[in-house]
Amino acid sequence: MEPLRAKRVLKQHVKTDALLGVDAVPMGERPAAQPSDSDAAESVVKPAEPGHAHVPVQLTPVGGPLFAAAPPKPRPSLDRETKLRVLGAMNESEVKPCKKCTLCAGRINTVFGEGDADAKLMFIGEGPGQNEDETGRPFVGRAGELLDKMIVAMGLTREQVYIANVVKCRPPNNRAPLPDEVEACWDYLRRQIETINPRVIVTLGGPATKRVLQTDKGITSIRGIWAECKAFNPPVPVMPTFHPAYLLRAYTMENRKKVWSDLQAAMKFIGS
Ligand code: URA
Repeated sequence: MEPLRAKRVLKQHVKTDALLGVDAVPMGERPAAQPSDSDAAESVVKPAEPGHAHVPVQLTPVGGPLFAAAPPKPRPSLDRETKLRVLGAMNESEVKPCKKCTLCAGRINTVFGEGDADAKLMFIGEGPGQNEDETGRPFVGRAGELLDKMIVAMGLTREQVYIANVVKCRPPNNRAPLPDEVEACWDYLRRQIETINPRVIVTLGGPATKRVLQTDKGITSIRGIWAECKAFNPPVPVMPTFHPAYLLRAYTMENRKKVWSDLQAAMKFIGS
């Protein structure tokens, strides 16, 4: 890396670490995360090292690596105009009038998602809260403010990423969405992912991580471990991390470092 660029990158890292409350400098390689369950079958991919191809590996002890060493072929991509048209049409004609589950009864607005239709990085959260329900926009409350800081810390803007949720209507009293509500809404999210075609997804919290990875494992045991959303071919790399609302409730140095390290892994993956 050129010295000037290296200096700029280093400065950005120090600034953003401070922003997230991380005051320590990691020494050496980050140890490979291991799933806590012995029967773990989550597939993981290692972020690409600079100058090296991205080499997916499989954590499952059964049957050896499932992937060839060659990088997966790129998913077919639409141009931005077409993506905007597809997403806009889905929102207007399907999501806004949606009555697939009972959450529609309590909503003010559906919350489709927003951001760059060509985003390399997609965040997937749980579902709208009160502020989101009132405005029709994702992550605009306190958790959203923290997510915005996280995005800035990554050297990006909110407009450069895409933000969506596993359910498009607010669950009553901000409870977690129920499995049948998540299932009813999944096809919308699946088509959003397919259309946007992000290089990487960061799932925020348990409900998003469970649906995207089709796992029952708790977020605590799988955050920070690369996995894949196998609803797509080739699968989309996923970095699960804690939900910003959880981080606000448990604003410890340890949790902030964990989230920051997950975000850094995602940044590294997209070469940011
Ligand atoms: N929490 C979420 O998971 N999504 C939002 O849009 C807002 C808060």
